[in-house]
Amino acid sequence: MSVSAPRLARADALTVRPVEARDLDAVIALDAAVTGLSKPDYWYELFHRYGTRGRQQRFFFVADADGRIDGSVLGEVRDWEFGSAPCGWVFGISVRPDARLEGIGTRLVQTIMAAFRRAGVTKVRTLLARDNTLVLSFFRSQGMMAAPFIALELDLDEAPR
Ligand SMILES: CC(C)(COP(=O)(O)OP(=O)(O)OC[C@H]1O[C@@H](n2cnc3c(N)ncnc32)[C@H](O)[C@@H]1OP(=O)(O)O)[C@@H](O)C(=O)NCCC(=O)NCCS
Repeated sequence: MSVSAPRLARADALTVRPVEARDLDAVIALDAAVTGLSKPDYWYELFHRYGTRGRQQRFFFVADADGRIDGSVLGEVRDWEFGSAPCGWVFGISVRPDARLEGIGTRLVQTIMAAFRRAGVTKVRTLLARDNTLVLSFFRSQGMMAAPFIALELDLDEAPR
């Protein structure tokens, strides 16, 4: 499924570029609006890990609409983790609620996928909550399918010691 042509106009008009320090307040505010939690320390740490170092394998992009940050995406190429050949992982994506369904998420994903290709990998993966139908619909629209893995977890408070 692709985003219809008229709505692409807004996404086409913005720039998707690597994050800069001056974007962080807007990225933190956007994440707080989307998730209901403000996590400035987390984002500053991510900026240092993904925005300033290791730029061959770590990617953190923002959608810049004339100085207003309308979205962000970040991810990384991980080598041989979980027993799999090197592949790109999308860790997080977010688009400003009042700018959605205009192709911005698609622009962000296309940008990070191009970065993964340049880094030499041929596979991209992500992880999402089973009941997150919005994010599932979005990634499905980008051509992503269920992977041949299962996620496992354990509540450590209830685990044998
Ligand atoms: C998922 C998200 C990034 C999509 O961004 P977006 O800019 O609206 O996406 P696009 O406009 O590029 O949409 C592309 C396709 O995704 C699908 N899609 C997007 N939003 C959808 C929705 N609300 N319902 C169903 N399908 C949807 C559609 O197939 C759409 O194509 P179409 O418009 O031609 O039907 C955005 O909704 C978002 O930020 N959600 C919150 C994500 C979140 O919780 N992030 C924090 C943890 S990672």
